[in-house]
Amino acid sequence: MLFFASALSLLLSSAVARTFVDDRGVTHEINGKPTFVTFTHTAVTLSHFGLGKDQLVGVYGEFAHQGSDFNFEVMSEESTYPADPTPEEMEFITSVPHLSPSCQVGYCQEFDVEAFEAIKPDYLVMHGYRGELWGFNSTIEKQVVNIIGKPIIYIDVAQQGSNCIGEENANQCTGKSMIEVIEQYDALAMALGIPRPASVTQDKRDMCQAAQAFQEAAEAAQSKGVRALAGFIDATPNATSYLAYPSDDMVLRMFEELGMPILHPGSCTAETCDTTQYFWEWIPTAALFPNCADGQAFSECADTPLYPVDLWLYDHRTTLTFTSPDFRTAFPDLAVMQGQYAYWPIGGGIISYKHAAEILNIVAPILASAERIHPGSACTPADVSSIEHAQDGLEPGQYACYDESVHRLEYFQCPASDDKALSGGAISGIVIAGVVVLGAVAMFVMRQNRYGKEASS
Ligand SMILES: *[C@@H]1O[C@H](CO)[C@@H](O)[C@H](O)[C@H]1NC(C)=O
Ligand SMILES: *[C@@H]1O[C@H](CO)[C@@H](O)[C@H](O)[C@H]1NC(C)=O
Repeated sequence: MLFFASALSLLLSSAVARTFVDDRGVTHEINGKPTFVTFTHTAVTLSHFGLGKDQLVGVYGEFAHQGSDFNFEVMSEESTYPADPTPEEMEFITSVPHLSPSCQVGYCQEFDVEAFEAIKPDYLVMHGYRGELWGFNSTIEKQVVNIIGKPIIYIDVAQQGSNCIGEENANQCTGKSMIEVIEQYDALAMALGIPRPASVTQDKRDMCQAAQAFQEAAEAAQSKGVRALAGFIDATPNATSYLAYPSDDMVLRMFEELGMPILHPGSCTAETCDTTQYFWEWIPTAALFPNCADGQAFSECADTPLYPVDLWLYDHRTTLTFTSPDFRTAFPDLAVMQGQYAYWPIGGGIISYKHAAEILNIVAPILASAERIHPGSACTPADVSSIEHAQDGLEPGQYACYDESVHRLEYFQCPASDDKALSGGAISGIVIAGVVVLGAVAMFVMRQNRYGKEASS
């Protein structure tokens, strides 16, 4: 059956152009196995869906995340950043031409158009935010589109909405959850003719199991009244810190949609705060401890913070500072002092089932064992998987109640085990409808008793 399906898929893929509608509404008709250039971490994402060096002919952007200690002299060693590519993945993305030669770690917007012209791939696959290409202005976009003779294939890694283009249309935008972007890359990999390895099914199963374990951890944390807060904390004197609105980040949305109690920021009323910006509340670090007098050591007044944070989700770009002993001295917040913190790989980076499973598996045990530190506060009932929640979030200082009936079901799609798939004749058929969906192995949502309620998603 499986053999039949893949033989047929080969036949079909050579005869019928596959179509992919991207996040700027452009329909791409794709034939065969085209070559392309893409962002480093998108190349790793697509490698989780089977991408090899036959189709990846170049990458742009940084290899490791900002702040990472990845050692490019010893490529066989992992960095301390779980969200960085593994050594094998680094080998993959550093073995093709790099169009951002000055970039290795962190923020990078370099793109060598001449080198791109020399490669002349069939496609350029790019990500961006709110309908705008990351790192490209319209001049450079025109140049590359001229070179390849086709539009760029665009995936928005933050928000969606047909009128969601640029800052001025922010109210037209809805925050994406990690699974939504993963499914887009999954579909893009198929549209690009990338042969799907069996590991994808296992990755999905792993993510589904990780989501269940995470949900249990979230329920345990909620029953203790624990609250998390996601932020980029700068503890140097007079610094500004940044607290994340959970609706704006695909990883935080995943956490919330699996029941994690995350505080929504925006509480600071001081003139020095800015609660009007996209994604973050900008807050002078000292304002996190409002009972500290000017110049008073935080250690004397840190037990009555602005937000009752029992568990920090630190922006992983600050890993090396946040987890250092010096940080406890500079920022003696009670949750920090008690070691109640977990990494938060902002933006996802590598956006695959496999990486989602890894993130959930790292954070779940920390969430499960966190204890409430500050006086309890009531949760707020919220449909965390709804469009309204993805647009507006909650009021400052609120966090969503635990309610499995509103958790996002897509995280619980467990493929049947191989045995079942084969013996049950689970090949559900071949659908040709704009996109050719090939030999889809029947999926079913694993419903144990606790998932008995119908969930809206
Ligand atoms: C567009 O970006 C390129 C490359 O970064 C830069 O050289 C150029 O000045 C920019 N053009 C405009 C109009 O901003
Ligand atoms: C930093 O804050 C301290 C205490 O409030 C103040 O005395 C000092 O002038 C500030 N330094 C700068 C560079 O703003």
